[in-house]
Amino acid sequence: MDTLIQFAYIVSAALFILGLKQLGSPATARRGNLISSSGMLLAIIAALLDQGIVQYQWIIVGVLVGGAIGAVVARMVEMTSMPEMVALFNGFGGMASLLVGWAALSDNASTFTLITIVLSILIGGLTFTGSLVAYGKLSEKISSAAVQFSGQQIVNSVIVLGILGSAAMFCLDPTNITWLFAVIALSLVFGVMAVIPIGGADMPVVISLLNSYSGLAACAAGFAVDNNILIVAGSLVGASGIILTQIMCKAMNRSLSNVLFSGFGSGKTEATVVEGEIKPISAEDAFYVLEAASSVAIIPGYGMAVAQAQHVVKELAELLEANGAEVNFGIHPVAGRMPGHMNVLLAEADVPYDQLLEMDDINPRMETVDVAIVIGANDVVNPAAREIESSPIYGMPVINVDSARTVFVLKRSMASGFAGIENPLFYKDNTRMLFGDAKESISGLVREFNS
Ligand code: TAP
Repeated sequence: MDTLIQFAYIVSAALFILGLKQLGSPATARRGNLISSSGMLLAIIAALLDQGIVQYQWIIVGVLVGGAIGAVVARMVEMTSMPEMVALFNGFGGMASLLVGWAALSDNASTFTLITIVLSILIGGLTFTGSLVAYGKLSEKISSAAVQFSGQQIVNSVIVLGILGSAAMFCLDPTNITWLFAVIALSLVFGVMAVIPIGGADMPVVISLLNSYSGLAACAAGFAVDNNILIVAGSLVGASGIILTQIMCKAMNRSLSNVLFSGFGSGKTEATVVEGEIKPISAEDAFYVLEAASSVAIIPGYGMAVAQAQHVVKELAELLEANGAEVNFGIHPVAGRMPGHMNVLLAEADVPYDQLLEMDDINPRMETVDVAIVIGANDVVNPAAREIESSPIYGMPVINVDSARTVFVLKRSMASGFAGIENPLFYKDNTRMLFGDAKESISGLVREFNS
């Protein structure tokens, strides 16, 4: 039986890796998800056959209650709230590792096991509270402002020293459980302290980092209970989380330490004075320009997700193509509120994958584009990132829609985007603002094409 279980673990690990690989492209992502889930199911069944399991009643209760809550929440969650939900899942993953590590404690544990127990408790604990704070900030259940006070670094350093000291004392004298309680309490406090100084604007990066931590905690728990597949799955989550964090930082042209310690999004950004005037346009007038266009680039952002405009956008793209225009979508790596946000929405509307161009592919073509339609995107098309050195987003790579002959910006008002800064694009000579909810504005254009 043991050999069979180990074999099932190897197959599960292979399925995880294969699934992860397929998640890399929108065309194969659904299959990748299914393959990874099958790997997890196999891993769970194999783990349940392990002789270490003494009774099944509570496991069944846990599976039923947890499964029911997970299924209901996943069905109810809005697409725009997905990052918050991921934050909660990470947090619970961290808590699970904390509990598994704690439960693995026994009188005859070796020093190595004790170290892995302490690691799973400490990383799991800080992931739990850190994720809850990230969830609160992102869902605006608590203020999303960066909380900074003088002496913060010193307080945090003292907590870290406290954790390390308590952990060392516990490993030296495991009979004194007080040290373990100190590690648990201080880790929970540290999770809160590490995330409060980070502004809401950086929460997606923090969530991805905490995702990585939840993997590391699971990996440590895997060592603590001597379970190979938990070690493998934890390592995969840990590594992919950190890679994703890096990708996001790169797309914003910021270092991880800048994200973690600069207090970006704390509302301290300076207002830029923008010259020029706003030129609104109606759907009817926009239609005439689009009708004459032979190449159109559509740049979606968070507002398309809010308006749930992806289906009408696809309809408009088809009408433009039928009218003889070449239509492409420009996808910025951090458009929206989570990695791949725009890809998921456009895939849901069945937009062909070959029309989705990454930022680096669409930018060189922008000068030949007749009309760039910006749908609820703001920061990711902000030319201040190139032009205004004092801008907080200076250096962030953006989609250069202002190089197109004409730019239509679809949004409801002059409100700023996630970074909370002015956008000079709205004032440029070749920009026209089509104000209103994105879904309604696009439906208006579709009506014009059909009439
Ligand atoms: P934002 O800069 O947040 O702009 C979204 C715009 O959509 C807003 O200006 C808003 O203006 C408009 N909008 C909202 N609801 C709308 C509706 N129903 N109809 C029409 N327009 C609507 O979005 P973005 O350009 O996608 O940039 C993403 C931001 O998130 C960046 O700052 C990025 O750094 C940050 N971020 C993203 C990620 C990931 S992984 N995606 C990670 C970290 C940070 P109105 O209110 O005037 O309508």
